[in-house]
Amino acid sequence: MEQPHVDPGLDLEDEIVRLKKERNAVILAHYYQESEIQELADFLGDSLALAQAARDTEAQTIVFCGVHFMAETAKILNPDRTVLLPDLDAGCSLASGCPADRFRAWRARHPGAVAVSYINCSAEVKAHSDIICTSSNAEAVIRSIPEDQQILFAPDANLGRWLIKQTGRDMLLWQGSCIVHETFSQRKLVELKSRHPRAQIIAHPECEEPVLAMADVIGSTTRLLRHAVESDHDEFIVATEPGIITQMHKAAPHKTYIPAPPQSNCACNECPFMRLNTLEKLYVCLRDGTPELTMPVELREAARRPIDRMLALS
Ligand code: 13P
Ligand code: SF4
Repeated sequence: MEQPHVDPGLDLEDEIVRLKKERNAVILAHYYQESEIQELADFLGDSLALAQAARDTEAQTIVFCGVHFMAETAKILNPDRTVLLPDLDAGCSLASGCPADRFRAWRARHPGAVAVSYINCSAEVKAHSDIICTSSNAEAVIRSIPEDQQILFAPDANLGRWLIKQTGRDMLLWQGSCIVHETFSQRKLVELKSRHPRAQIIAHPECEEPVLAMADVIGSTTRLLRHAVESDHDEFIVATEPGIITQMHKAAPHKTYIPAPPQSNCACNECPFMRLNTLEKLYVCLRDGTPELTMPVELREAARRPIDRMLALS
């Protein structure tokens, strides 16, 4: 979607606050959104907290500042609400790397196995999964499955490998990855650490194994944020999308946060999908009530069952 033309004389922040009230809307935003959007959000969180907030909101309209699978989850959990996403093209490499027809064929080759899908997948894949997990609850979800059951885990192979290590469970892994987290360079991380020996490395489990092997703390965005704020350490190398650093600075401004370096000198540690949402698009979305996320009822209902199973465990 192109950047919409917006009157440059408008105060977008004021307009967004005004329109939000007018529409009885709530803005839910992921930590990877740009800081201006984070400032305007009524609720900020990781994938799990956002799904719970979407389920529980009383607002008539949910404006989801995140990516498509997150807005889809909001609609699945709260079908009577209008769900708007400032840019419908805000996808995710994990979701697009796991097409539903290939996923179904993979499942069919392993009858009797339990299919656990990371929430970063399409509603169609969710509809063919037994249970969903996020990075916050993945360990608990895996541990909830009886020992004698074969597990299929999709679509993130890095998260899957880390879970195998954490839980000792053998799982068959779909070979998907996040284009943002696989960009961190172990070589550059070693260099950075030698320049900042007191810094703790904190990493999201979507990072590749060599990066995770260097990490002091591994967890969801919420876990990393909490650790950075609450621990006694005061310097961190942050191996996840740097949008999270906005909240780290806000909650513990006296500490130092260094974004982990990508392989090349690019800005590719920023999620290009998350960053498709801009203040202009958020304003237009509230002004016009579009783009709206809609989905067929049968798909919504089929995708809800494995999400509800996850929420019952969370
Ligand atoms: P969280 O579960 O921490 O929100 O992670 C979501 C995500 O997309 C990470 O890339
Ligand atoms: Fe998907 Fe990676 Fe972006 Fe998260 S950071 S939304 S996993 S592409």
